Amino acid sequence: DTHDPTSLRTPIVAVLGHVDHGKTSLLDKIRGSAVIEGEAGAITQHIGATAVPLDVISSIAGELVDPDDFDLPGLLFIDTPGHHSFTTLRSRGGALADIAILVVDVNDGFQPQTLEALDILQRSQTPFIVAANKIDTVPGWNANEDSPINATYEAQSDRVRSRLDESLYEIIGNLSDEGFSADLYWRVQNFQRNVGVVPVSAMTGEGVPDLLAVMMGLSQRYMKEEMEIDVAGPGVGTVLEVKEEKGFGKTIDLVLYDGTLRASDTIVVGGTNEPIVTDVRALLQPRPLEEIRTESRFEKVDEVSAATGIKVAAPDLGDAIAGAPVRVIRDRDRADVVAEVEDE
Ligand code: GTP
Ligand code: MG
Repeated sequence: DTHDPTSLRTPIVAVLGHVDHGKTSLLDKIRGSAVIEGEAGAITQHIGATAVPLDVISSIAGELVDPDDFDLPGLLFIDTPGHHSFTTLRSRGGALADIAILVVDVNDGFQPQTLEALDILQRSQTPFIVAANKIDTVPGWNANEDSPINATYEAQSDRVRSRLDESLYEIIGNLSDEGFSADLYWRVQNFQRNVGVVPVSAMTGEGVPDLLAVMMGLSQRYMKEEMEIDVAGPGVGTVLEVKEEKGFGKTIDLVLYDGTLRASDTIVVGGTNEPIVTDVRALLQPRPLEEIRTESRFEKVDEVSAATGIKVAAPDLGDAIAGAPVRVIRDRDRADVVAEVEDE
């Protein structure tokens, strides 16, 4: 560790898309591939988020990601539910993300929540790429587990290739109808101007190396400056969910995107009426799956640093709302911090 107070945090990647288009499966596939690569321990499951470090990304992506080309520590993925009743959470999930993956089923194409997600991304000015998922369901598909897209594409028959092309161009056309200039990702020069479309299968892992490579490249190229944070500074985050937790009462699941949050901190949380000022009682992390006992699903930790997902137990969180800002007071003036939360 250096004494430089600023360091580069992990970019936060929201995974959005219509119900059943494969958001969770895609993250499961990335976790599963890490297990196969003998990197199970390196992937950490956070509250509402999965952290994938750079060396794991590189081992999954193979030659598409050379770790020496990057100095960002990896990617933190946030899964979002596609069901329509989660609209508010999703719109907030979209706003707190640095970048996003919009998952579209190649057969099902654009659907209501795809359009809704696009609208959220546009409004929050979040750069994104499109994962055209389920390519393995193209009739006649010849699966090549975990292969980069060009190799598996070459291994398909002409007929299969043209069927896939058709579906992909339909997605590109749909994006264009919504005002986004898009193309297959390997043709995109400037990802700030054009949306890259990455064909993938969450089932077979085909295209997943490309997806990870594009996300890393995009982050490194366009997000690096925004990732420079004062890690030791007072934490800043966003509420993902407010949840009743047995033994802890109302808790908030939050994504911390700046600084540090300690179990000894006083925090300000946006509420339905006014900001809530409260003392953290416990910072709770999910235990690894194999360690979960019925009585203690969580492990208490003393502090966490951005970017991470964490559950916070504290009094008076009943009025906290999903999407609200959270700020640590620590040595700052209490009224200033309350005013900042009020303005956000
Ligand atoms: P919600 O969270 O409900 O919005 O859905 P989701 O987007 O997370 O979709 P999920 O990952 O749960 O996948 C929905 C269904 O599609 C499941 O039955 C998956 O097994 C299937 N599925 C997802 N990805 C693929 C894929 O690449 N190929 C195939 N053949 N099936 C897939
Ligand atoms: Mg899901």
